[in-house]
Amino acid sequence: MQKVLVTGGCGYIGSHTIVDLINNGFDVVSVDSNIRSTPQLLDGVEKITGKKVRNYKVDLCNLEDTNAVFHENRDIVGVIHFAALKSVGESVNDPLFYFQNNLTSLVNVLKCIKEYKIPNFVFSSSCSVYGNTTALPVVEETPLGEAQSPYARTKQMGEQMIEDFSRVNDTQNILLRYFNPVGAHASALIGELPLGKPDNLVPVITQTAIGKLPKVTVFGTQYPTRDGSCIRDYVHVSDIANAHTKALQYLIDKRNSEKCEVFNLGTGDGVTVLEAIKAFEKISGVKLNYELGAERPGDVIAIYANNTKAKEKLGWAPQFGIDDMMRTAWQWEIALRDRVLNN
Ligand code: NAD
Ligand code: WQD
Repeated sequence: MQKVLVTGGCGYIGSHTIVDLINNGFDVVSVDSNIRSTPQLLDGVEKITGKKVRNYKVDLCNLEDTNAVFHENRDIVGVIHFAALKSVGESVNDPLFYFQNNLTSLVNVLKCIKEYKIPNFVFSSSCSVYGNTTALPVVEETPLGEAQSPYARTKQMGEQMIEDFSRVNDTQNILLRYFNPVGAHASALIGELPLGKPDNLVPVITQTAIGKLPKVTVFGTQYPTRDGSCIRDYVHVSDIANAHTKALQYLIDKRNSEKCEVFNLGTGDGVTVLEAIKAFEKISGVKLNYELGAERPGDVIAIYANNTKAKEKLGWAPQFGIDDMMRTAWQWEIALRDRVLNN
């Protein structure tokens, strides 16, 4: 069985990807310091797959500890690197924390990949690398715009570091640019665990519907879009997860000489904030308390992906639409409430 090292495996996308890797025959070990998570989602992974996944509770900013994990797992076929801090607002207030954590951890992982000659590397990037682009839909060749936050800058810099590294090393690399990952595993055993008050739309919607938050404010209703609210490319986390398995398999089977390839991961469909709210109300039967509010500073008006490259080269195709995303996010919110009530 081929073994993969997943960093950030206790997090939202990492845990869903571990499920998909196991379901596709891979053996997985995780490294996660739990700075933004607990081992709880790995319990959910075990319930879904029947496999217990080992997590090394290691801060990847510590080279010695990171090296020890690689030393013990030098037989891995690849690394999928999710571990990072991801709050846009927090990064604006504390940029050095983001540069230190997201870039030092990446440098250390790449040093170990080099030392142990790990053949394949997959990196979590983000559509935020495109900045405030107006060329839609976004293709991989769309020039990267000015980063709108230190967080986004860590993704741009991370991509550049990997590109430079790929020129002088044998490792094959893939950069996956996620658009807006939402939803939860269909079992409702794993999902997103926002720490504190969420900033992202879907957790704000589900937490409002369940009564944890008083209301949803729609940030901006006068934009030049079909209903005045912003457009995003929401993509189901299980589809994002499956793209990682496909990306890794693509690297393992790879016959071309490209050392670093980039793929957009979005559905290709833009959905407005008001459409997302309507989809939630339809699938949940809950009338959502929402208000039309002011624009959120820094928001891009509209962004969605051209995903042709991922479809053609990776053989990836998103399976879920906005209704599935809302349904699974809602089932997960209900499962979280029931778990609290039963404990
Ligand atoms: P998450 O916060 O749920 O998971 C990230 C995990 O990384 C956490 O469990 C955290 O404890 C761990 N981590 C952070 N720094 C670490 C370090 N120095 N050492 C060890 N572990 C560390 O986030 P997620 O939503 O699963 O995101 C995964 C990746 O995808 C991140 O790189 C993120 O930037 C990227 N991404 C996320 C989104 C999104 O909307 N969720 C969109 C685009 C890109
Ligand atoms: C979506 C839409 C808001 C909350 C962020 C990061 C990006 C990437 C994904 C990691 C926007 C609107 C939101 C609310 C609202 N992450 N909204 N009321 O801003 O597209 O992207 O997450 O890489 O880097 O910036 O996602 O979920 O915050 O917002 O009206 O209470 O929902 O204005 O149009 P965003 P989001």
